[in-house]
Amino acid sequence: MDSILVKGNGPLNGQIPIAGAKNACLALMPATLLSEEPLTLTNAPRLSDIKTMTELLQSLGAEVSSLQDGQVQALSSHNIDNHVADYEIVRKMRASNLVLGPMLARLGQAVVSLPGGCAIGARPMDLHIHGLEALGAEIELKDGYLHAKAPRGLKGAVIELSFASVGATENIMMAATLAKGTTVIKNAAREPEIVDLADCLRKMGAHIDGAGTSDITIEGVDRLHGATHPVVTDRIELGTYMLAPVIAGGEVELLGGRLDLVGAFVEKLNEAGVDVLETKAGLKVKRRADRVKAVNVTTEPFPGFPTDLQAQMMALMCTADGTSVLEEKIFENRFMHAPELIRMGAKIDVQGGHATVTGVDRLKGAPVMATDLRASVSLILAGLAAEGETIVNRVYHLDRGYEQVVRKFSGVGAQIERIKGS
Ligand code: UD1
Repeated sequence: MDSILVKGNGPLNGQIPIAGAKNACLALMPATLLSEEPLTLTNAPRLSDIKTMTELLQSLGAEVSSLQDGQVQALSSHNIDNHVADYEIVRKMRASNLVLGPMLARLGQAVVSLPGGCAIGARPMDLHIHGLEALGAEIELKDGYLHAKAPRGLKGAVIELSFASVGATENIMMAATLAKGTTVIKNAAREPEIVDLADCLRKMGAHIDGAGTSDITIEGVDRLHGATHPVVTDRIELGTYMLAPVIAGGEVELLGGRLDLVGAFVEKLNEAGVDVLETKAGLKVKRRADRVKAVNVTTEPFPGFPTDLQAQMMALMCTADGTSVLEEKIFENRFMHAPELIRMGAKIDVQGGHATVTGVDRLKGAPVMATDLRASVSLILAGLAAEGETIVNRVYHLDRGYEQVVRKFSGVGAQIERIKGS
């Protein structure tokens, strides 16, 4: 298995291009199932999760080709001849469950494996199921698969989510585009990926209002048509690379960066003593002093501080001046990076959903194990600030969500390389 070697080597300077959002692209790709006409996505990230979604859509009969080095996805679902999303693919990636709503709406039936456990918590699908049932679907769990039917088609309804789930909002919104009548999703997720999906669906002919607010209204139409859509900038990749010069020193410009995508994160950076400036091409980041100040962080649904940046923020807090408390409110088991950071000399005490981090002067390089996608990149960030060498093992997690990670970090001067495993 490959690993990544990082050497802490001082200031980073230059520019890092930010890719299209993985999580937006994973919702946009299944939208192809809603129409017989082609959907073209530009600015797609080149990641293994995108390949997994491609495989899943192809297994259903969709045609997917990846052009221009993977940055354009040309999709067509004129001939869907299978309605079963197999466990072997779904278990690799939870976002596979986003084919449920579109298939049900287009074909009146769908059989989708339940994703099963995942490293960061239970992550059930009850909200997806209740929402689709409110639209008139009959859903049963048999042999680990959700069997969903809507023999008389879907019908608009008012659905109030008990939690503003991103995936449930996406599944219900896609299904509702082809339902009869009006659907209102209350307490909908407000993430930029939801806004991006709604923009794309509107280009395909859907009638959607309120995406980006807690109330989304969808007027069902008879059919959707083809469209071309650029995937929104990845706010999590953006936030991750914004931390590179904060941890290692220097000044880095994030090309394609947008303040509106990372508002709560930037507020915390400012509080910690970091300047974030808008430039023509994106955002420029520089810390004000050699050491940042400790700040407390609570993860929340958008526009709050994103759970997907919590691990990276913890890596920063490990060498901050003072003590910070990080509270995880989205996923119950998302501090697995803490024991790895402790191996590098960090002082972290985890109690339930709270991690108390007392900043130390310097971390020390060590061999560490990546446990999930965001945890892996937090260990690279920590390695940039550490004395000596850090070896991050199990980097396949990184390939799921960060394209060209070694090239992007080394492009601003980091000493980092991928070591081929056996
Ligand atoms: C998406 C993102 C993920 C991000 C998360 C929160 C994708 C592919 N993934 O995940 O990177 O960390 O949003 O911003 O877009 N829940 C239920 N029942 C459900 C669905 C969710 O209880 O039916 C709970 C989950 O257990 C969790 C919380 O809701 O505690 C958030 O989940 P959700 O917003 O659905 O996250 P995902 O869509 O899985």
